[in-house]
Amino acid sequence: MTSTEPEFLTAARTFYDTVAADYADRFRDALAATPWERAVLGVFAELVTTAGGGRVAELGCGPGRITGHLAALGLDVHGLDLSPRMVELARAAHPAIPFEVGSLLDLPYGDGSLAGAVAWYSIIHTPAEHLPRLFAEFHRVLAPGAPLALAFQVGDTPLRVEEPFGHPVALDFRRRRPERVEALAAAAGLTVTTRLVREPEADEKTPQAYLLARKEA
Ligand SMILES: C[S@@+](CC[C@H](N)C(=O)[O-])C[C@H]1O[C@@H](n2cnc3c(N)ncnc32)[C@H](O)[C@@H]1O
Repeated sequence: MTSTEPEFLTAARTFYDTVAADYADRFRDALAATPWERAVLGVFAELVTTAGGGRVAELGCGPGRITGHLAALGLDVHGLDLSPRMVELARAAHPAIPFEVGSLLDLPYGDGSLAGAVAWYSIIHTPAEHLPRLFAEFHRVLAPGAPLALAFQVGDTPLRVEEPFGHPVALDFRRRRPERVEALAAAAGLTVTTRLVREPEADEKTPQAYLLARKEA
């Protein structure tokens, strides 16, 4: 990317390029232990399919574990991520799925071209002042009526993750209030239809939120 990009994008790319292989190993099979995540993704897939299908995207796909799951649910899915190393790993793990490097803030998709989009724990590195642009991009690329699925950690203060998997990098994981995310979605023209907040499980430190929204027709 260019040297003029915002620092938070450079920091997120550096962090995820560095931890990509360890992250992929750690989370490769995590969906098997998270039935609520599978449930929300299953509803998302049904909404897309019953509306006639079409191309969907996982935005901030990392190593493609969610993208692969959506493909297994029968969706025509593409993946996009800021981190070139993550995209490499996603391509290696899922050779039949197209993956590309890109940013949530400047999506390489035409207006109204997606039948659905998923942003699974990928809005968590964008500072609050940039979120209106991010939701405006989600709204722009979705077709009228198309669903958006979001997952994020619930809270008010960022968690600074330092030396993940022993690597000398650090990044803020920005926890969010579901009502604040709903308001941002609504301001961009996306109506939240479903909200699920569950208590932390296993080694999670916060409740987890899942939202389904729809671009108004
Ligand atoms: C916590 S990981 C989640 C990956 C995947 N969705 C999953 O659930 O396994 C966050 C991912 O979002 C990507 N990401 C963060 N900010 C991004 C941005 N502005 N544009 C594109 N990708 C971004 C990171 O590179 C990273 O791969």
